[in-house]
Amino acid sequence: MKIKLGTGIRIVGLVAALLPDVALALDLMRGQRVYNTHCAVCHGMNGIPVIQQAPSFASKERLMQPDMVLLQSVKMGKSIMPPFMGILNNDEILDALNYARTLR
Ligand code: HEC
Repeated sequence: MKIKLGTGIRIVGLVAALLPDVALALDLMRGQRVYNTHCAVCHGMNGIPVIQQAPSFASKERLMQPDMVLLQSVKMGKSIMPPFMGILNNDEILDALNYARTLR
């Protein structure tokens, strides 16, 4: 079977154009899984906190800080938030934070 060169180039171009979106969607899916499993007990499935001391992600409280600051808080724990270092890796935490930023 012969594929015309032009078609091949168009397919490669299409896949390349879609990849960043696909990667982002997969990260958000993983973020949702991590968030629902490890964070929602306190921060709420919709980002509306279940416990009084937790910030509301539905109103973006605290989430405007740089990723590295938030990553550090989640890894080390903060007041009654337990440290997640050794339980979740950096990518999982960052994905969960990005997912939290989509809640409203
Ligand atoms: C046991 C309840 C609990 C769990 C579980 C929990 N948190 Fe928290 N989280 C809190 C509380 C309470 C605070 C407020 C801490 C403070 O500033 O005193 C907080 C604060 C935060 C902050 C703000 C940190 C800052 O530096 O301002 C982020 C971001 C956050 N949590 C993300 C997460 C993520 C992501 C998870 C899941 C991996 C998670 N939390 C799991 C209770 C929890």
